[in-house]
Amino acid sequence: MLREAWWIGPVEVPTRVVLAPMAGVSVQAFRRQGRRYGAGLVCSEMVSCAGIEHRNERTLGYLRVAGDEHPLAIQIFGSEPHAMAEAARMVEAAGADVVDMNFGCPVRKVTKTGAGACLLEDAALACRITEAVAAAVGVPVTVKMRRGVENGSRACLELGPRLVEAGAAALTLHPRSANQMYTGVADHSLTRELVELVDVPVIASGDIVSRQKAIDVLELTGAAAVMVGRGAQGNPWTIREIVDGDGAQPTREEVAAELILFVRETVRELGEHRASGFLKKFYGWYLGHGRFPKPFKQELVQLHSTEDVVTRLLAAAPGAAELVERLEAELPDPDDEILLEGMPISIYGGG
Ligand SMILES: Cc1cc2nc3c(=O)[nH]c(=O)nc-3n(C[C@H](O)[C@H](O)[C@H](O)COP(=O)(O)O)c2cc1C
Repeated sequence: MLREAWWIGPVEVPTRVVLAPMAGVSVQAFRRQGRRYGAGLVCSEMVSCAGIEHRNERTLGYLRVAGDEHPLAIQIFGSEPHAMAEAARMVEAAGADVVDMNFGCPVRKVTKTGAGACLLEDAALACRITEAVAAAVGVPVTVKMRRGVENGSRACLELGPRLVEAGAAALTLHPRSANQMYTGVADHSLTRELVELVDVPVIASGDIVSRQKAIDVLELTGAAAVMVGRGAQGNPWTIREIVDGDGAQPTREEVAAELILFVRETVRELGEHRASGFLKKFYGWYLGHGRFPKPFKQELVQLHSTEDVVTRLLAAAPGAAELVERLEAELPDPDDEILLEGMPISIYGGG
């Protein structure tokens, strides 16, 4: 059943696993890898609508879409309906199949602007934003929520149906409160209640780390799909296990090859300077799980350039070279990238 297709409006999603939007994680390499391992839909990290409005270079870099990412949701956040609608138009022009809106981010930098989880407590504004965005674009518009701001809140159950009325074509629920951040557990009994209240697909997010957990949550909630976040960090094999039941642990060569490809693609997207800092957390994620000895990870983190990291990985797992070559040969032609306002989006990617 996890390999079954489902729909968000007219967009067909080929499997019931969605790769979560994660700030500081969901770069293009992460999304493409998610697709290769069986995620039916991948998401960008949240992109500031103010950044899009002001044509901030780094923000526009988040709107790069590769040919092998589809279907792809790009997530935007903001609190002003008109600016959100304008941002959604840019996101659609950049090639997103779905515009997702973040009504759940608990981070102060976002909530102090009235965006993210704040909108769970301002239903009128949340609906005005949803209406404006749905009217602005031809692609489906979806919303990702937490359960509410305060612990125990059930705000999402009041808000969800109103968002659907306002034009949301699907809802994702991460049933923790904003105050909880990532503590405690995701209470998917709330997801089940939401599913009963709306006639659009609901995606269940939170603590999905195995096929068994995915099946349990789908059965409990009646959700259309599950979303996988932290479980897929440095671990695309989790997605394969969830989608196909193939729980084979990767060999060292496979781990090194995926990491090398990830490093190279991320350097291409962010430039060496940004990528080398950004990538450090991924070394632990990939090399953990008993795959490589701990000191090896510490060694990688201390290396000065990503080229040195690749060299060191190839020395530790020489068989990875051939695997990387094979993976790189399958990547789509960069000429397939979409032009945004006459400019290739990729020019914004570096630096
Ligand atoms: C590092 C990190 C960054 C995240 N960034 C976003 C984001 O940009 N937008 C969003 O809607 N959710 C974000 N989330 C929440 C995840 O999408 C997901 O709902 C949450 O992690 C629960 O799923 P999990 O238990 O599978 O990780 C983030 C989570 C993490 C751990």
